[in-house]
Amino acid sequence: MTTRSITDRLGGLAFGGDYNPEQWDEPVWKEDDDLMRRARVNLATVGVFSWALLEPEEGRHDFAWLDAHIDRLHANGVAVDLATPTASPPPWFTLAHPDALPVRPDGTRLVHGSRDTYCLAAPAYRIAARRIAAALAERYGDHPALALWHVHNEYGTLCWCDHAAAAFRVWLRARHGSLDALNEAWGTAFWSQRHTSWEQVLPPRETQWHKNPGQALDFRRFWSDEIIAAFREQRDAIRAHSDRPVTTNLMLPAYQNVDLWALARELDVVTSDQYPNAPGLDAAAGVAVHADRTRSLGGGRPWLLMEQGTNTVYDDGQILGKEPGEILRHTLGHIARGSEGALFFQWRQSRAGAETWHSAMVPHAGPDSRIFREVTRVGEAVARLGELAGSTVAASVAVLDDPDAWWALGVDGLPSSRLDYHAALVRAHRALWDADATVDFAHPEHELSRYRLVIAPALFLLSDKGAENLRDYVADGGTLFVQHAAGFVDDRMHARLGGYPAEPLREALGIRVEEYRPLRQDERITLSDGSHGTVWSESLRTEGAQTLAAYTHGMLTGGPALTRHRSGTGQGWYLSTRLDDADYADLVGRLLKEAGVEPDVPGLPAGVEAVTRHALDGRHWQVLLNHTPVAVPLPDPAHDLLTDALAQELPPGGCAVLRGH
Ligand code: GAL
Repeated sequence: MTTRSITDRLGGLAFGGDYNPEQWDEPVWKEDDDLMRRARVNLATVGVFSWALLEPEEGRHDFAWLDAHIDRLHANGVAVDLATPTASPPPWFTLAHPDALPVRPDGTRLVHGSRDTYCLAAPAYRIAARRIAAALAERYGDHPALALWHVHNEYGTLCWCDHAAAAFRVWLRARHGSLDALNEAWGTAFWSQRHTSWEQVLPPRETQWHKNPGQALDFRRFWSDEIIAAFREQRDAIRAHSDRPVTTNLMLPAYQNVDLWALARELDVVTSDQYPNAPGLDAAAGVAVHADRTRSLGGGRPWLLMEQGTNTVYDDGQILGKEPGEILRHTLGHIARGSEGALFFQWRQSRAGAETWHSAMVPHAGPDSRIFREVTRVGEAVARLGELAGSTVAASVAVLDDPDAWWALGVDGLPSSRLDYHAALVRAHRALWDADATVDFAHPEHELSRYRLVIAPALFLLSDKGAENLRDYVADGGTLFVQHAAGFVDDRMHARLGGYPAEPLREALGIRVEEYRPLRQDERITLSDGSHGTVWSESLRTEGAQTLAAYTHGMLTGGPALTRHRSGTGQGWYLSTRLDDADYADLVGRLLKEAGVEPDVPGLPAGVEAVTRHALDGRHWQVLLNHTPVAVPLPDPAHDLLTDALAQELPPGGCAVLRGH
């Protein structure tokens, strides 16, 4: 029987990290055992980059060293998340199979020397990856220490080589059926691009000027499917020998090389890695958006934070430290939003190699350090939260997220290069987070009726099915908020004719956009309600909608900028420019009010985050995080699992996990 929940095996939430004992020797391993016990580590990710040791030459495996480490961890009460090492092929592999090295769009073939130096579409790579995955599964598939399989690491490396070209053509034949259909889909009537044989069809490699948008979008989709196929091969090779759950760690933020909705469907448990890219409150908001996305990718199921840093905030070319208390707040930020624990990259900071300066649970300074002391306290806190296992989070707001729409905004020749999908997604989430709303992400074609408010921040591409779904959502009582440049193209990158956005979404919004008018770099316009817009504007007319704010500049003067339309039992809002942050926050606040969305814990001051985890049997827990430097009295004191006492207030920068009553 497959054990789908990893927490069953751990007896509580997971705590630990990537463990790379091959970088060390016996005395350090002994110390690791002791320190892991002190830090309450119960799960270690092993073998992520161990291919060169596990298979020192093609087809010859050496598992003895790994046997010893896994047995040692087991004896020490630490379960194992065993990785397949396929994210870093050893030097012998690339020497033997130079055709499997990745090629950039400009034709440069990369060489060995870093990691991820493979083309996933190269047959030699796929054979080697399946072989090592199967060998590991055969050897460790029912090892009592094994809690989870970790296939590969952060899938997403793309390639433009001839293997990729061949696989792309196979994929295109399956998608389009015929060359005629492909020509039609890609609009090859323009610029004399009509293909008359399949060999003429290429990946979007470096070319003279704009690439074909249909080709660019299909190449993204092809790679997503190729990545998922590669994952499945390893997963299935593992499942032939093992009943333990299988995952791969997703890398979310701005790294959209795979359809994460589709990949997540293949995972027994969704896991992901998170490294903030700004300090302070922005880092906390980054944790929240990451956690909400990961949970949503798994359809709300419990998930697991596979990697975070003890001291790592990437910011403009430098690594910033986390402040005292931040490791706990970030950890609980993930757990609050459904993670079944928290793991780090990595256990012990490397003394050599490419990531020598990346933070770890045991820093270069050793255990006598602030970081290790904090890690120990965080481990103790997580150990107290076992009863949360299996519970999840209920959101009444959704932000729409569609990889096709993301990729569509990456093609050449758009009316503005300042339509940034990821920034729009994060901004919508941030405005909701600041307003204490609990948020899911959803695909535009998902069932949306459980949400009171749905925000579509960047749906430049919208499929017919998505447009119908959004129309129905509004007709059935939902509040939909659609932001500028929405529904401009269909799922082939063909422009919507007769006015944007895509029909029948226009029905729900009661508007018709006739003309897009991007604003100049430094242009900031004022709307009739006093709010300000940048980046974009549109000439639209209402077809039933009410104008809430109008343009006051140039030829758009008097024309609608922000509209609301009552349709069926719901309402569709449309905003045709990009509002300044404060105005956007006000508008989101107004929408939350209209839609009747309340914070999980009303009455908390700004900078205090609260999320509720619910168990199926009705139990619930409030996770409260105080991101401010002052103590905050709790509106509703309750038993705090972290202190095992009644909590009346949150200390400055402190946290509480209150058992519901
Ligand atoms: C992750 C990766 C780890 C490590 C870490 C550094 O994306 O999976 O192997 O490189 O980043 O932040």
